[in-house]
Amino acid sequence: MKLVIATRNPHKLEEIKAIFDFKGLDVCTALDFPEIPDTVEDCDTLEGNAIKKAVELCQATGLTALADDSGLEVEALNDEPGVYSARWAGEGCTYADNNLKLLRELSGKDNRRARFRTVIALARPGKEPSCGGAKRKAKTATVEGVIEGVIAKALRGENGFGYDPLFIPEGYDQTFAELSTEEKNKISHRARALAEASKRWKHLWVGNFHH
Ligand code: IMP
Repeated sequence: MKLVIATRNPHKLEEIKAIFDFKGLDVCTALDFPEIPDTVEDCDTLEGNAIKKAVELCQATGLTALADDSGLEVEALNDEPGVYSARWAGEGCTYADNNLKLLRELSGKDNRRARFRTVIALARPGKEPSCGGAKRKAKTATVEGVIEGVIAKALRGENGFGYDPLFIPEGYDQTFAELSTEEKNKISHRARALAEASKRWKHLWVGNFHH
């Protein structure tokens, strides 16, 4: 079975390959389909965006497609920035802008609890063949991965990206940006979602026929 992953980021593919059990799978990414436009991520939930990305890629390629969407949910901010994590401080903002906004929004607040959440969606071509230009059908399912933690009072560490210098995972003293990539990848929301996806959907490609 051929699986296409909805990313053009080679680092994401490497992280996925380190966790996912790909036995029985022929894997490619959106990089192999440069003619297919990127999905507009305009849904108001992580689930919505992950499903939209997977379905559009499944429909455009006719292949089973996997897509993820992640975000930081801060308890005292009603789970913001969530699905808006990338551009929270405004269109074209940097990671530093987002981190400064987070420190500002939490200043004076006692509750600094937060979690990173990743949703992974799988879209499989439907049974009905497409005809007359009608869109192909796709069957979808999702899994998620979560890491709980707290938001630090100041930026710490140089590794990683995004909100890593402010996120202290539960059971640790260091921020994600102070952990090595290997340590972070063992416990991260993405790693947990990928491990769950690999376990949940393996039967689709190892031939147990539990379709
Ligand atoms: P994406 O869905 O993986 O592109 O993540 C969307 C946004 O969430 C990123 O631009 C970051 O701001 C934030 N984010 C997701 N995962 C992480 C992480 O592991 N560390 C820090 N920030 C993250």
